Amino acid sequence: MSLKILVAYATRAGSTAEIATEVGGVLSARGFSVEMKSLKERPVLAGYQAVVLGSAVRMGSWLPEALTFVRTNQSALQGMPIALFTVHMLNIGEDEASRTARAGYTASVRALLPDASEAFFAGLMDFSRLSFFDRFIARMVKAVESDQRDWGQIRDWAGSVFSGVNVL
Ligand SMILES: Cc1cc2nc3c(=O)[nH]c(=O)nc-3n(C[C@H](O)[C@H](O)[C@H](O)COP(=O)(O)O)c2cc1C
Repeated sequence: MSLKILVAYATRAGSTAEIATEVGGVLSARGFSVEMKSLKERPVLAGYQAVVLGSAVRMGSWLPEALTFVRTNQSALQGMPIALFTVHMLNIGEDEASRTARAGYTASVRALLPDASEAFFAGLMDFSRLSFFDRFIARMVKAVESDQRDWGQIRDWAGSVFSGVNVL
C-alpha cells in the first residue's frame, strides 16, 4: 500500500482547486495515493500519512475554512509531514517588500505549524468567476484580470515536496 496523502484546498473562484488538482496529479505520478478534498467538506485526517494544504488569499488572509481546519487539527498536523501552499495575486515579486508582505498572509498558520514547508503561487483574477460582492471589491481596488499561474513552478514544487518521505 502506498502512502496516503490528503490534498485539501480552500477556494472561492476555483484557481486554488485547479492548482491543488495539478499538485495531486504530480504526487500520484510519484506513486503516492492521493485524495483531494475541499476544506468546506471538513475532511477528517484519520487514515492519511501526509497533508498538502492550500488556500486562496482574500483580504490579506487564508480563507476561513482553511484557518479553521488548521486550528481544529493542529496537534495531528504537527505530527505528520505537511506542506502548505498559498495562492494570491499581489506581492508576487522576489523583492524584500513582496516577500515580507506575502509571508504575512500565512503568519498565523506558520505560528501553529512551524515545521510545515511552504510555497506561494501567483493565481488568477477572472471577474467572470467572482461572486457579485468579490467582483465589487475587485473593481474598487482596480484589480486587473490576468492568469499568473506558473504551472512549471507548481509542478516543480509538487515534484520535490515530501522528498524525504518514502512512497511505501
Ligand atoms: C475580493 C478579493 C480579495 C483578494 N485579496 C487578495 C489579497 O489580499 N492579497 C492577494 O495577494 N491577492 C488577493 N486576491 C487575489 C486572489 O488571492 C487570487 O485571485 C486567487 O487566485 C484566488 O483564488 P481562488 O480562485 O481559488 O478563489 C483577492 C481576490 C479577490 C477577488
